[in-house]
Amino acid sequence: MSAHPSFLAVRGEVVHFTADPAEQGESACEHIPDGLLVISDGHVLHCGPANALLPNLPTDARHFDYRGKLILPGFIDTHTHYAQTAALASHGEQLTAWLEKYTFPAERQFANPAHAAAEANFFCDQLLRNGTTTAMAFATVHPASVDAIFAAAHARQMRLIAGKVLMDRNCPAYLHEDADTGDAHTRALIEKWHGRARLAYAVTPRFVPTSTPEQLRRIGRLLADIPGLYLQSHLAEQRAEVAWVAKLHPEARSYLDVYERHGLLGARSLYAHCIWLDDEDRRRMALHGAAVSFCPTSNLFLGSGLFDLARARQFGLRVGLGTDIGAGTSFSLLQTLNEAYKVLQLGGQTLTPEQGFYIATLGGARALCLDEFIGSFAAGREADFIVLDPKATPLLEYRMSRATTRTERLFVLMTLGDDRCVAATHILGEPASTRHT
Ligand code: GUN
Ligand code: ZN
Repeated sequence: MSAHPSFLAVRGEVVHFTADPAEQGESACEHIPDGLLVISDGHVLHCGPANALLPNLPTDARHFDYRGKLILPGFIDTHTHYAQTAALASHGEQLTAWLEKYTFPAERQFANPAHAAAEANFFCDQLLRNGTTTAMAFATVHPASVDAIFAAAHARQMRLIAGKVLMDRNCPAYLHEDADTGDAHTRALIEKWHGRARLAYAVTPRFVPTSTPEQLRRIGRLLADIPGLYLQSHLAEQRAEVAWVAKLHPEARSYLDVYERHGLLGARSLYAHCIWLDDEDRRRMALHGAAVSFCPTSNLFLGSGLFDLARARQFGLRVGLGTDIGAGTSFSLLQTLNEAYKVLQLGGQTLTPEQGFYIATLGGARALCLDEFIGSFAAGREADFIVLDPKATPLLEYRMSRATTRTERLFVLMTLGDDRCVAATHILGEPASTRHT
């Protein structure tokens, strides 16, 4: 704490969560129509009604007046690939053909550090423009690609969890590396980046088919050697992929079982998709405390299937939301919620707007074991927040004028909203991205 802390006072309609609304109901959502966030040295000091807090503000506080707009904690994208921006909107294939035709060639470009730096900067700017203040991201197999994304996030003071992709089989020769080299590069990158400022390292095997049992064993050892590391990968995304894993691992009970046998399941393990699981898989994930990233735009785009959120909840799994760029089709977590709602509708389930905004904020923070730092406006949290304009477009303004409750307004925002609604994104209190529209 510096001798002269700089106070910020941010006024607007505050919405955040203190618990999971699926468990706690209405009371999980704190909604302050004329609210004030008081921020000191980048952290939340108070969050409450403006009329109660304004009289006690230090006289030198800097004011941000966002009345007429909503103030929420920054969105948390729990699964994305920064090196796949160029693969967005690539037509016509399901997972394995899509990887070969579009994704691997896009990732190949990251052998060039200048390309990696340019893409990393563009990606982080897209996150901020969309109100995403924290992400968990795949880089590529190239160590310089990890340097580039951590450097870009660091320059913006963003929270970021990322790692170098590990692949030692079933991939193009130009992305292949042996288990020894992958292990050595990963250890060096951990040394360089893990725990530096707001950055953390995730060991990143692409998925079971692209790692030999030897590589998986080494990853298990690495996770056991260095406490606090994350693990990110894909699990049970498509039926053909599950059948491929069964063929590669006849000894395993299931796809999940391969990860479990190698020590890749823990509280800091985050698995994207988890569509084609059975209840024993869910039980075992819950037992180890592993978390899920639900990536609805990707699941629809690649034709992967419908994630069963109700079942994940029944087993007590932590679930965050992921864009999964570039199989996913939007950087916007608002648009991701829009598609999440539709995926659940197709599965005979529903998503209340409060549950939706919870998983995009505090739920994501919990999935990433970061809820003591981000995801809500509880005192002491890092002041990453976004300002949403409910009248950002003529259509939004029209539809909003007919919305009578908080719930209805949040639903309109998550159904019709996108980056145009994000009037500002603040990192550690300070504006990091502002729209002038
Ligand atoms: N499975 C293995 N690699 C990938 C990837 O890059 N994207 C998606 N959606 N699934 C994968
Ligand atoms: Zn992915």
